[in-house]
Amino acid sequence: QDDVFKKLVSHCKEYGFVFQSSEIYDGLSAVYDYGQMGVELKNNIKKYWWDSMVLLHENVVGIDSAIFMHPTIWKASGHVDAFNDPLIDNKDSKKRYRADVLIEDHLAKYDEKIGKEVQKAAKRFGDQFDEAMFRETNPRVQENLQKRDEIHARFAKALNDNNLEDLRQIILDCEIVCPISGTRNWTEVRQFNLMFSTEMGSTADGAMKVYLRPETAQGIFVNFLNVQKTGRMKIPFGIAQIGKAFRNEIVARQFIFRMREFEQMEMQFFVAPGEELQWFEHWKQFRMKWHQALGFGAEKYRFHDHDKLAHYANAATDVEFEMPFGFKEVEGIHSRTDFDLSQHEKYSGKKIQYFDPEQGKSYVPYVVETSIGVDRMFLSILAGSYHEEILERGEIRVLLKLPPTLAPVKLAILPLVKKDGLAEKAREIMDDLKFSFACQYDEKDSIGKRYRRQDAIGTPFCATIDHQTLEDNTVTIRYRDTMEQERVSIDSLQQTISEKTDM
Ligand code: GAP
Repeated sequence: QDDVFKKLVSHCKEYGFVFQSSEIYDGLSAVYDYGQMGVELKNNIKKYWWDSMVLLHENVVGIDSAIFMHPTIWKASGHVDAFNDPLIDNKDSKKRYRADVLIEDHLAKYDEKIGKEVQKAAKRFGDQFDEAMFRETNPRVQENLQKRDEIHARFAKALNDNNLEDLRQIILDCEIVCPISGTRNWTEVRQFNLMFSTEMGSTADGAMKVYLRPETAQGIFVNFLNVQKTGRMKIPFGIAQIGKAFRNEIVARQFIFRMREFEQMEMQFFVAPGEELQWFEHWKQFRMKWHQALGFGAEKYRFHDHDKLAHYANAATDVEFEMPFGFKEVEGIHSRTDFDLSQHEKYSGKKIQYFDPEQGKSYVPYVVETSIGVDRMFLSILAGSYHEEILERGEIRVLLKLPPTLAPVKLAILPLVKKDGLAEKAREIMDDLKFSFACQYDEKDSIGKRYRRQDAIGTPFCATIDHQTLEDNTVTIRYRDTMEQERVSIDSLQQTISEKTDM
């Protein structure tokens, strides 16, 4: 699995999907640039989300709020005081860790140990092996399971109590049993705020400390009345937004899974108090269907319902996707009560209420939020699409089985040879079709090599122009996933490809 992930990361670079930011200066940690293919895939993901949330819901509208906002917003939202990660430093190695992630790594080590015992036994016993029985009866497995569960319970309690000293003690105990860092010389655990800040205005005027937003949601909350009034919106209704968010993440790893600058697609759905849990359930099901419609298989997704809720939430779940490094959160769905709007009422001194004509009274609406990271979605799509196939002569074909709607290039236009007027004919087709969908013209190298290049960037269809094309105005369509080929008339291309690539 580790291997698959490494291959995926290098594939992203080799084919122009994702580059390390500032690479010629040796990079900037947890910051990435999207290349010529990446930007197309990312734009298609955003469109797929926007269309399903805004275009298809008459009661959801979009906005695009600024990244900089009044600093008191972040006081009101709780981010100044509570948007923290627990950090611990190793005094010898001078390495900094997120205390909770370090403990999770230790827990994973126990799982690894147990996994190794099971594998060894499976080899020894062959067909006779009963894994469940082995797990229940093997003393080494049982011992590791017991330790793991013990640490897990202490960890959950320390997090729940927000007890930093207990977190530190768990790390010290784990490091004795199975060291990750190699040393035992640790600092205290302390809270570290994840928001980036900068200054607005010149210092002579008295500069104001402002933050780069760590979520786009607050831009929606503070515009609630603007949109409700000017759009004459009636509850229940939603406001959607796509935009950049910034977090000074301490653990920078797993490629674009955890970034310091990333993009979110968020929707806040405003409802009458008391109706929020019903809407929470509605959006939970809707969002899962949206994910599954991409066709990677329902078994790749699961919900992770939260037992421990933030103080302002009364229900929360994550949509998780099976990445090469395990099931991971891609989207969060939260019932946020009236917390945010009430806080902004309190801090701004402005009334933020909705007059409900049906109930004949005013109230602060409750909110159900759906929040998904574009970059994580991007990673999940690449992970779901990446395939290696062994062909007849032992050759390996690497392909991205991207859903056609999301593919950066829909149709590659390939003259079999450059001469005999085939290149000119291919150009003519390209010039005609490029107004309808993304096409790529390619005449370099053998046709086989060109097909491989298109497979690698996930192009669902290739049209090959050969000598017969000049005679009967037909081309060969080659399908990415099956490699099957079919002769079709040029006149039907536009409609056929449009139908297959639209969702
Ligand atoms: N407004 C709610 C909110 O921001 P969150 O669970 O902190 O909730 C929502 O973030 C989504 O944003 C996550 O499910 C994830 O997809 C994405 N996300 C959060 N932090 C990220 C990071 N450092 N890098 C990439 N994506 C991130």
